[in-house]
Amino acid sequence: MCGIIGYIGNKKAEPILINGLLRLEYRGYDSAGISTIEKNGLKTIKNKGRVSELEKVSGINDLTGTIGIGHTRWATHGKPSSTNSHPHMDNSKKFAVVHNGIIENYADLKDFLKSQNYTFLSETDTEVIPNLIHYYYQTSKNTGSKKLLEAVSNTIKMLKGSYALEILCSDFPDNMIVVRKDSPLVIGKGLNENYISSDIPAILSFTKDFYLLNDNELAFISRDSIEFYDSNLNKIEKIPQNITWNAGAAEKNGYPDFMLKEINEQPMAIRETIGSRITSNSKSIIPDLDGLNKSYLSSINKISIVACGTAMHAGLAGKTLFETLCEIPVEVEAASEFRYRNPLINEKTLCIFISQSGETADTIAALKLAKSKGSKTLAISNVIGSSISREADFTIYTHAGPEIAVASTKAYTSQIVLLAIIAINFAEKLNLNKEKLEELKKDILLLPSQLEEILGNIQNIKNFAQKIYKEKDIFFIGRGIDYTVALEGSLKLKEISYIHSEAYPSGELKHGPIALIENDVTVISILTNRLLVEKSISNIQEVVTRGAKTFIVTNQELNHKFDEVIQIPKTNTLISPVLSIVPLQLLSYYISKEKGLDVDKPRNLAKSVTVE
Ligand code: F6R
Repeated sequence: MCGIIGYIGNKKAEPILINGLLRLEYRGYDSAGISTIEKNGLKTIKNKGRVSELEKVSGINDLTGTIGIGHTRWATHGKPSSTNSHPHMDNSKKFAVVHNGIIENYADLKDFLKSQNYTFLSETDTEVIPNLIHYYYQTSKNTGSKKLLEAVSNTIKMLKGSYALEILCSDFPDNMIVVRKDSPLVIGKGLNENYISSDIPAILSFTKDFYLLNDNELAFISRDSIEFYDSNLNKIEKIPQNITWNAGAAEKNGYPDFMLKEINEQPMAIRETIGSRITSNSKSIIPDLDGLNKSYLSSINKISIVACGTAMHAGLAGKTLFETLCEIPVEVEAASEFRYRNPLINEKTLCIFISQSGETADTIAALKLAKSKGSKTLAISNVIGSSISREADFTIYTHAGPEIAVASTKAYTSQIVLLAIIAINFAEKLNLNKEKLEELKKDILLLPSQLEEILGNIQNIKNFAQKIYKEKDIFFIGRGIDYTVALEGSLKLKEISYIHSEAYPSGELKHGPIALIENDVTVISILTNRLLVEKSISNIQEVVTRGAKTFIVTNQELNHKFDEVIQIPKTNTLISPVLSIVPLQLLSYYISKEKGLDVDKPRNLAKSVTVE
């Protein structure tokens, strides 16, 4: 939700900011803007719409400043408009601020500032920030950088909510201040230049050394130095982390969209996620989980898996894995529900939080709640140093590489593989299901080549997409773990094709939804469990009888004729979603392309949901 970018160095800032905003646009695309420090002071150019529109605004190429900040917006407070776009300035035009997050008490702060004769141009929550900074700056007795730092520090003490902020002040033409709380912000260290961004991929082509800020830590940034402060303005030391992703990982590399690239990266993402964590015929090696030992695992009464959207769907596959292999009951819940319902968890509950970005506001809040109730917390994230990984007791990373398309694909399959590996590790520690574990390990190791096989044979999926792309409603059905894939397939379709779709457990059809099946409606069915084939076929026949078109993803031999059957390789049912979701990802992708939609940036959505 909103992307922020910053540059301070010796190069012209404007093209660097625009390039960064284009890479961050997946976080929001309602409006975009930049501010730079020019010879005659701060200059701001902003516009409603996408970054490509901002690039066309006259005068933007004339900006020559070498320090600047930029923002691409996912609107929360105030409709998308030029006035509501960031950067926002204070009344005196001394400060320019970009903000990702939400200031929950902005109305009170606005009232206070109005009482001090400040006026407001926009409907945003953000505009209170530059004005508050100005208010404290005016009243500060300090001088030099201390005066600015004090004003910012006093301001953030007044803010309730989440923020990643970049602040420019015309009195400090060689500096920038950044601060964050519950919203992502990284500082990339270069040689006599520094980069600031909401995420690492946007600036990966410039540097691989990154500083991460904890909540309410401030950085006072110059071209050749960065000073870090805690919230009380005590100086602190930080060591940059070296990120091993290569810059190409954040490029489309010849693919028309990030989504198609990321779908095709799944074999590699799974290989990397497996790494050396499991090999056949020997025990799993996961040093990150050493703290969750046999005596702890034997003492827990349940596992709670908490996540949002696609990550929660991966969690549903995790439930079957942990229950089958570790024989521990598992609950799976949306973080947005979990955090507000006083869940029955305690020190005997292991809470697992799954988040690709590691920045999802609801998941972070749920994690904090679990900690406050004494549960141990384990985070699964794809982003090293993300907020969730810093909050959790234990973190284990998927190694899927940056996921940039809004619709999650390779993160989902990597999360399921990692959940399987964790479940194996726990079951080994508990001395359970030895034979099953050995079989499962072999099957996990086969997944990358099986994925390659599926990805090498997609023509029938494309053809079916051409047949059904104009439909208004599509249904997904499956039983057991296939139902969890139906949920994910349905979510993918909705978000990038805007076709209404529902997922049901096949056995539930007769309890209501079958009333919606009429001639020519498409029903997509996932069928990977040998033990449930006959029952599922009966359910499919029931919709065929009522005129439905059928698209079936299966690894079973079917003796019936259906409109389209996509055969996928056989694997252990426990990890079958890693394979069976891929035809559904591709189907959604090609439907969206047929409709001429922007696959990577579907309407109303943003990649990282950093507000609740
Ligand atoms: C759907 C999708 C979302 C995310 C959800 C959680 O394709 O991408 O449903 O899965 O917003 O995001 P993370 O995993 O970053 O917490």
